[in-house]
Amino acid sequence: MSDTNKTATLTFDGKSFELPMHSPTAGPDVIDIRKLYGEAGVFTYDPGFTSTAACDSTITYIDGGKGELLHRGYPIDQLAEKSHYLEVCYLLLYGELPSAEQLEDFETRVTRHTMIHEQMINFFRGFRRDAHPMAVMVGVVGAMSAFYHDSTDVNDPWQREVASIRLIAKMPTIAAMAYKYTIGQPFVYPRNDCDYASNFLRMCFAVPAEDYEVNPILARAMDRIFTLHADHEQNASTSTVRLASSSGANPFACIAAGIACLWGPAHGGANQACLEMLREIGSPNRIPEYIERAKDKNDPFRLMGFGHRVYKNFDPRAKVMKQSADEVLDLLGIENNPTLQVAKELEAAALADPYFTEKKLFPNVDFYSGIILEAMGFPTSMFTPIFALSRTVGWVSQWKEMIADPAMKIGRPRQLYQGETMRDYVDIENR
Ligand code: SDX
Repeated sequence: MSDTNKTATLTFDGKSFELPMHSPTAGPDVIDIRKLYGEAGVFTYDPGFTSTAACDSTITYIDGGKGELLHRGYPIDQLAEKSHYLEVCYLLLYGELPSAEQLEDFETRVTRHTMIHEQMINFFRGFRRDAHPMAVMVGVVGAMSAFYHDSTDVNDPWQREVASIRLIAKMPTIAAMAYKYTIGQPFVYPRNDCDYASNFLRMCFAVPAEDYEVNPILARAMDRIFTLHADHEQNASTSTVRLASSSGANPFACIAAGIACLWGPAHGGANQACLEMLREIGSPNRIPEYIERAKDKNDPFRLMGFGHRVYKNFDPRAKVMKQSADEVLDLLGIENNPTLQVAKELEAAALADPYFTEKKLFPNVDFYSGIILEAMGFPTSMFTPIFALSRTVGWVSQWKEMIADPAMKIGRPRQLYQGETMRDYVDIENR
């Protein structure tokens, strides 16, 4: 945090308070209100944290107005085109792009942690077959703290490192097992001769009855989807992980909390909700009806995959995803995909409508991802688990950054109390 000499003056009730300001390397200055309550006896009020910087970080920067997303300074479109997911994981975790030797060592460490403790299989069997895979992931990831005791002490840097590798390595295995369980197929073990994305595709789609060849183009598309979802500053699920971690809870419990938060349709659950919406619309001639519903204040319907708390321009990830959707469908020989057709015409109709342009509502990362995932053979219920496994490196990187900060304190927001003031108990016979 670079300190400026600038201060902000807060004046009320005839009193003035000087608040220090800090300048970032990019983005808006911040007003430091940490001593405000102690000095002025007032809270700030910001439900939803639309104007609040909850921490300082060096990992990811978003410029919502320009539609820019940088991971350790590198633009997401360059990383999506030139890098690959495990290299982006290294970048997010350690701050720099790895040398060839560092990358090989990192990939080997991740590869050797992809299996889960065999006894954890029993957890899957406790769920109904029709359980949502996200319910399974929340439960199984939280249970990891019962199996990996040697990487739960958050005060030990080495245990933090081991927990980070385990979570990144095992999340695809857990997600694939959650999928296999719901379709009644046997679990497929990871293989050390497969890259990260190919391993995940194999664990999801291979069956013991025959050999399975991973299509390298689909593996590349899968890897790109992982990269596009890897981290995203202080979004709701990352903030959940940070708040849970601030109490000193073990990393597996904190990541499970992040998975739970991501599940919501306003957040990571939007990719599933978006595809279901596109299917419900069904054909371009029904688009005007849904556009009007999205604009109607009395209708709770919103365009899933549209809008963003930070981006008031195109989500740069959506641009890459849209290109990838065209490539994957073309590769698979899927012409005239009705869902993609509806998506493209819905996007065009919304972006031609002042309601959306004036409110700066553009497609976000979830608008096109479901079309690719559906074309790859995933059911909609697996869309958010794939988002969760991709985002694990972001949660873990932000967790490590916070835990390593000696100034870290337990998160404890206050409130604007609107309830009853003190009153005496009334015996039941007098009520
Ligand atoms: C993700 O934070 C992150 O970084 C998240 C994420 C990540 O990588 O971690 O990017 C992933 O969660 C992407 C967002 C996925 N969610 C959706 O696609 C669900 C649909 N989108 C909306 O629910 C909404 O846009 C949010 C939740 C994403 C953002 O909501 P905000 O910033 O709180 O905006 P808002 O609800 O205050 O809306 C502002 C206005 C409102 O109208 P007014 O009350 O001002 O008249 O825009 C309207 C809203 O009604 N609006 C929409 C809309 N989104 C906002 N109207 C119709 N359709 C929409 N999608």
